Formats: sequence, C-alpha cells, structure tokens
Amino acid sequence: MYWDANLETLHPAAMQELQLSRLRQTVERAAHSPFYGRRLKEAGVAAANLRSLEDIRRIPFTAKDDLRAHGEEMLTLPLDDMVRLHASSGTTGQATVIYYTRADIETWADLVARSLYMTGMRASDVFQNMMGYGLFTGGLGFHYGAERLGALTIPIGAGNSQRQLQLMQLFATTAIHIIPSYALYLLQTFAAHGLDPRDLPLRLAFLGAEPHSEDMRRRIEAAYGVKAYNSYGLSEMNGPGVAFECQEQNGMHVWEDAFWLEVLDPETLTPVPPGEPGELVFTNLTRQGMPLLRYRTRDLASFDDSPCPCGRGFRRLSRIVGRTDDMVIIKGVNIFPLQIDKVLMAMPEVGTQYLVELTRQDYRDQMLVKVEVQQNFFQEDLRYLKQLQKRITEALKSELLVTPRVELVEPNTLPRTEGKAQRVVDKRT
Ligand code: COA
Ligand code: AMP
Ligand code: ZN
Repeated sequence: MYWDANLETLHPAAMQELQLSRLRQTVERAAHSPFYGRRLKEAGVAAANLRSLEDIRRIPFTAKDDLRAHGEEMLTLPLDDMVRLHASSGTTGQATVIYYTRADIETWADLVARSLYMTGMRASDVFQNMMGYGLFTGGLGFHYGAERLGALTIPIGAGNSQRQLQLMQLFATTAIHIIPSYALYLLQTFAAHGLDPRDLPLRLAFLGAEPHSEDMRRRIEAAYGVKAYNSYGLSEMNGPGVAFECQEQNGMHVWEDAFWLEVLDPETLTPVPPGEPGELVFTNLTRQGMPLLRYRTRDLASFDDSPCPCGRGFRRLSRIVGRTDDMVIIKGVNIFPLQIDKVLMAMPEVGTQYLVELTRQDYRDQMLVKVEVQQNFFQEDLRYLKQLQKRITEALKSELLVTPRVELVEPNTLPRTEGKAQRVVDKRT
C-alpha cells in the first residue's frame, strides 16, 4: 500500500522535525544563489535562525514575475550541474524556466512513483501517458515516475486520438494519464470506431492539468470503467507529484516531506483555517538546483488536516477552485492574456481592439479571437485578408501552443468597455 511506509506514515512530531531540518538545509542552499542570497540578506533571515516552521513567514514570497526576471539567478549550482529544464507559458522573456539537477530528477521521479503506487498502480500495469511531452512537465514527469515504479510506459503524448485508441488496444493499456476534458472528448472517437472503453483492460486514470468537477470524475469513471484520481502539480514545484489522491478519493495528499505548504488569504497573506479556500504557497524542501522559497502559485484551494483512513498523515487539498490572476487553461495549456496582447499588438495590421472567447463544445476547448483590422488593411482584397488571418493564427499558435480560430472584423465593431478592457471572456462552464 505504501511506496515508502516510513516517510508516508511518519509520526507528526518526527515529520515536523524532518521538515524543519529540510527547510534549514533548503534556505542554506538557496542562499548560495544570487537572487536568494540578496533576498534573504535583506530580510535578515539565515538558516541558523529559523527556530520553527512558523519562522518561514519571515522569508519574503517568490512570485512568478521573480522567476521571469531572475530565473537563472535562482540557481544554487553552476549551469553545468543542471541536466534538464522545463518551461511554461510564454516565449523568451516571458517563460518561467525551472532547472533540474540529476538528483532533482531522481527525487521528482520518486514522488511521482509514490503517487502512482498510492492509487494501486504496480509494475504489472501498462501505462499510456497522454499528456504533452517536451517542455510540459506532465509528460516527462509522469514518464519517469511510471518507469521508476516499473510499469511498461507508452510515451505517446497528447493528441492523435485515433492512435491513442489503437495503442490502448494493441498493448492492453491498464492506466492512463489524461486531461479530464480530453478524456470526455475522446469518448466520441471510441464511439466513432464502434468501441467501448469498458471492454478494454483499463483500470486507472490520472486526471490533471486543469480544474474539473467531481461530476466529471464520476463520468470518466463510469464511461471508462476505471478509478480516476486527481493529480496536482505545477512546473515551479517540479511538475506533477506535488499532491495526489489516495484510494479514498477524498482530497489530494500533499507530499509535505518535499513541499512545505501554506494556505493563505490572498489579500492579507495570513493563514486560513482548514476548509477555507486560500492561495497555495509552496516551499521546496528537497530540491537542490533551484529551490523556491514561498512560491505564490495563485491557485486557490482549501486543505483538510483530519486523519485519512489510508493512514497517511499528509494534509489533503480540495480541488483547485480558482485562480487569483487572469491565467486561463485551454486544452491543458496555461495562457496569460498578456501573451495574446503582445502577439497582436506587434502586428501593424491589427487595430487597438480584440476579443477572445473561450468555449467548450463536446468537451473540446475552443478559442476564438476576434481581431479588429486597421481600416487601410481591411480594404485589401480577400486573399490578402485570408493570408493575414493565417499569419495571426500561426503567430498565436507559436506563442500559446494551442491553435485559435481567428476572425478578422472591421474597425470599431467590437464592444468598447469603460476602464480596463476585459478582453478574454470565458464562456466555459
Ligand atoms: N489533451 C490531449 N489531446 C488533445 C487535447 C488535450 N487536452 N485537446 C485536443 N487534443 C487533441 C485533439 O483531439 C487533436 O487530435 P485528433 O484530431 O486526433 O482528435 C489534437 O490533439 C490536436 O488538437 P487541436 O485542438 O487541433 O490542436 P491545438 O493545436 O489547438 O492543440 C495540443 C494541440 C492538444 C497538442 C496542445 O494543446 C497540447 O499539447 N495540450 C496538452 C497540454 C498538456 O499536456 N498539459 C499538461 C501540462 S503539465
Ligand atoms: P504547469 O506549470 O504548466 O504544470 O501548470 C500548473 C497549473 O495547472 C497549476 O498551477 C494549476 O493552476 C493547474 N493544475 C494542475 N493540476 C491541476 C488539477 N489537478 N486541478 C486543477 N488545476 C490544476
Ligand atoms: Zn489518504
């Protein structure tokens, strides 16, 4: 039942002792990086004067903008010691990049293996990883974890629905890692091929990367004949393997021996009690190359510290209930409206107004971008406008990694709003 019984069921007092000692080690290590060296000095914090875990509140927060501006300055070791990087959201200058040492890749793989084992996955399972590989952490993160566990791992990645089905049949897949909306969308592909996923040996599904409801989980379970588990993580904290549901399916255990969690009121930045939503703030406790201290995730969730029947002492997170910023997740890809703005405003043909509409049809996310074109360009012939539309689509796809539908409209036809324009309208339920 346990991957690492000793750690997963450690007595609370012993766990706190371990966390405090790991926090001190992490702060010590972080101080070797130019960024935290400065930050910690300014705040007057040193590893030796952290007396309790509560003392962490003396450390300043780290924000996504800090990562954008000072990412490489957060390395505690020379770049030569790093063996991997992952990046999320945005091209050069905007992306947040996380670097991993070999040891970091190992501890991450262990955390994911531990998560999968907790749900009942074993070496005998055939695991099909339907998340994006490449710079996304969902692909390689689960890949290494599943291999660590010993499962036969199929690295197909995202997309290519028909092939997903073929491989499931061919290799008798028993476990899948999939974006929940895509899992529901894929049912149509099954139906189109006269197949019922319940006739396959599937038994486990890991759902992550986007918010989803209990109702969606139950539908996926019923349609696929599996038990489905919620998986939470973010690139800044390695990727997946931060919090994961156990077989009780009553919240996601946070691996608190590796991540110190604070749940804070996003306004006052003071701790909220169990059951109340707050912003998740994490501190790495085991990362070597690029430990982050008090990273503000902008994700909102509540925690539950009551005992779990599974016997693990780690606190459990609710589903993610929202964000405190304007980031949206489309087809499992994080998008900041500013990215869209930058692409469009760099094109001389584009006017000052645009509107982005997000919809979900048959569980498939759609992004419609209506763009006002400058009058002098709008007068060009149809072929020119078609080409412009294609160029805008390609520029957006290249920045965002999802393909929008672009519609060109005449100047002064999109609604104007008072004050700060709301340019992204999320119509998904
Ligand atoms: N997950 C997996 N595949 C998806 C998907 C999703 N969320 N949404 C759509 N797809 C499939 C489509 O069904 C299509 O395949 P098909 O035509 O064989 O059915 C294919 O991907 C391309 O979809 P499309 O909507 O035309 O392309 P796009 O350019 O807008 O998006 C994706 C391309 C889906 C590959 C890209 O958005 C992606 O990589 N998403 C997954 C991100 C991820 O793994 N996130 C985890 C982060 S840890
Ligand atoms: P990334 O850094 O690309 O891995 O994206 C991480 C973000 O995806 C998180 O900060 C969340 O907003 C979102 N996310 C990841 N897993 C889940 C999940 N299980 N439920 C809801 N949102 C999730
Ligand atoms: Zn449990």
